[in-house]
Amino acid sequence: MKSDYGFFDPQNREYVIIDPMTPEAWINYLDGNGKLNAFISNGAGGTAWYSQPHTGRLTRYRLNGLPMDSPGFYLYIKDGSEIWNPSFFPSMQTLDSWECRHGMGYTRFKAVRNGVSADLKYFIPLNDEVLIWDLTLHNQSSSVKELNIYPYIDYSLHDFDKDTLYFLVCGNQAKYWNDKDGRGLMSDYFAFESQFMGKTIFSASERFEKFDMDRNRFIGRGRTEANPIGLKHGLNNSEVTDGGFYACGTFELPVKLEPGKSRRIIIKLAISEEFPEAIRISGKYNSFDEVNKASDQIDDWWKNTLDNCQVSTPDENMDVMLNAWLPKNIRSTMRNGRSISHRHPGNSTSLRFRDTMQDFMPGTSLYPDDVRALIPVLMGSITQSGRIVTSIDPVSLKCPTPEHTRSDAIVWGVFTIYKYLAETGDMEILEEVIPYYDKGEGSVLEHLVRGMCFVGENTGSHGLPHIFDCDWNDMLQVFSNAESGGESVMLAEQFIYAAKLLTEILNQVGKTENIPFLEQKSRDFTEVLSSKICWDGSWFKRLLYPDTELGSHNNQEGQIFLNSQSWAAIAGTLPSKMVCSAMDMVAKKLDTDCGIRLFTPPFTKMIDGVTRFNTNTPGSGENGGLFLHANAWAVIAETMLGNSRQAWKYFSQTLPNNLSARNPEHYGREPYAFASWVYGPDHQAFGHAALTWLTGGAAWTYMVGTEYILGIRPTLRGLLISPCIPPEWEGFTVARQVRGATYQVTVTNFNQVGCGKIILSINNRPVKGNIVPYVSSGETVKISVTIMK
Ligand code: GLC
Repeated sequence: MKSDYGFFDPQNREYVIIDPMTPEAWINYLDGNGKLNAFISNGAGGTAWYSQPHTGRLTRYRLNGLPMDSPGFYLYIKDGSEIWNPSFFPSMQTLDSWECRHGMGYTRFKAVRNGVSADLKYFIPLNDEVLIWDLTLHNQSSSVKELNIYPYIDYSLHDFDKDTLYFLVCGNQAKYWNDKDGRGLMSDYFAFESQFMGKTIFSASERFEKFDMDRNRFIGRGRTEANPIGLKHGLNNSEVTDGGFYACGTFELPVKLEPGKSRRIIIKLAISEEFPEAIRISGKYNSFDEVNKASDQIDDWWKNTLDNCQVSTPDENMDVMLNAWLPKNIRSTMRNGRSISHRHPGNSTSLRFRDTMQDFMPGTSLYPDDVRALIPVLMGSITQSGRIVTSIDPVSLKCPTPEHTRSDAIVWGVFTIYKYLAETGDMEILEEVIPYYDKGEGSVLEHLVRGMCFVGENTGSHGLPHIFDCDWNDMLQVFSNAESGGESVMLAEQFIYAAKLLTEILNQVGKTENIPFLEQKSRDFTEVLSSKICWDGSWFKRLLYPDTELGSHNNQEGQIFLNSQSWAAIAGTLPSKMVCSAMDMVAKKLDTDCGIRLFTPPFTKMIDGVTRFNTNTPGSGENGGLFLHANAWAVIAETMLGNSRQAWKYFSQTLPNNLSARNPEHYGREPYAFASWVYGPDHQAFGHAALTWLTGGAAWTYMVGTEYILGIRPTLRGLLISPCIPPEWEGFTVARQVRGATYQVTVTNFNQVGCGKIILSINNRPVKGNIVPYVSSGETVKISVTIMK
């Protein structure tokens, strides 16, 4: 688990980076529970935003420009004429020792230079909108140290587009000044078209005399944050007024340390929509007690959250991902959608029906309150006709982007709501009345049914669901639109599985009138899917058009796609001979040791064989790259077929710690955050990771690990136990909380089979079948499971 760059510390749920020169910036999200959010890298690069990164950006992070991964939340220490940073960057002065600990809800740097040690922890309290920098300096030397400390931020206009494109207005949209009562550096945003007008205070637990708010004057012409002129010549006490200046926040804190002595200072960036509240928050965290309390609350909150499911298996890389880092990753996707990271610009809303529903799936057990609050909001993306708009702004509840029809959206709604019901038993949510996106209103359940009917009713000439603009695979937009007449094999398979779950829900609540339609459509789709129309001889095709198709050996490019094979297994109604053959072909034609390709060969041309293919380069992203999100479904498929060895291979090869371990330098990105995709063998960067953190792959991989490999899966009927583990494992244990009760599961695999029939006992009493009935909240149940031959 250790590389030259760092290692996991499972005890403290941290990843410890020991070399600041990681191949790329390795980030962490500092999610609070409120509206303030930030990410920070192991070089203290990063950005903070309020509510939405598109309209509430507080500090800048340059996405394309050099130096990369800057600016951020810097702290300069001036010791004599030398200037250094506990984060190593941006000054890059050699340090005597250094480490960065990314943890659950915080990032902490510990560095020593020339007898001075700095311990600097960044976090956002759960209940207050303030980014805390908790700094302790210690004089390890035998002489007195007279230091000056300078925290630094680069203010952004709240509106990201304006900040990026219309930089001339920078000075006209916000006001910056030093508070005459010594409360800190103030900013007041007042662009009239803004969603909110943020008031920030940047200050410390100690008063300061010297400051700068004119960024260009502080940094100096021709210089960067690595060597600001202001730190050489002294601060200017400049307040930025109207007129096109760029604003920064920095101030000077003199610190005199006798030998062996320490000093703690709290630096705070507080934000509110009103100054009295910003002043209250900022003032509160002058108290070390409050800072300690807030920090302890975060630790307790994460411990309680992660106690929801703790596993102990023979594979430490699986354990560390399931017990801490995937849940952490999922929280970041739930809060930030696909919006903002070191690679995502943050210019879109965080709620997209398809993506967010998938993020919510494991969220139903880990973060049920957030999911409960947001399901009705997301369901408001469904129109009366059952069509779904792609994304919804959580504040305006309107779709901020063109309303493409992504035909698959509703199935994710069914999966998530089923899972929410299974996890919580809160059937009342189904009756909550919410508006349709266009007009009228209906219950959550009615929304679901309409969405499914829309897919079932809108079929094409072969009798499969119309793809409209695209299904799960966005890239298929290049081949499809509402007029193309394309039909999606993957969506037909997903529909069958979703219809089964929805039928279970409808039966449970006694609203059965739509069940015959769902069942009839599932039968119709099954018939077409298992006929020559969709079967290519050894695998399932992917897309049908009136006069052509994709995913067939007749195609020069795009001959075999992963998803239509995996979902054929998950659908559960297709002939097993076909499904087995299809999954064998996945292993033969698509698998690599770093993940499974989305399809092969990648496209260079459009289906006409002439026009140039114009999105991703071959082998990257959705053009035949190793799209790890989709790999999770192949794991499910293999567990359903009982192929425990293959399921394990597919699962473990996509874990970031395993991918990175092969060659951390080449892999590039964080070993603790899930990658959306990795370059495939058709690309010269094969094995290099692209986007990390914001991907549905985190949610699915967590679920696949806990529910299909370890096989502990809440259903409406009870806790289903169905492990499918590597045959050589002796067993494993899981402590899982569902509906307030704790289930302590011990699985024994002494037959070395990994998968198959089980013998189940509950509280030492043998039970038939593989379902553990739910018990009352507060109870603990001991479950032992033996996997038989
Ligand atoms: C990205 C998108 C997601 C899409 C997937 C495949 O992850 O966020 O919506 O389903 O790509 O195209």
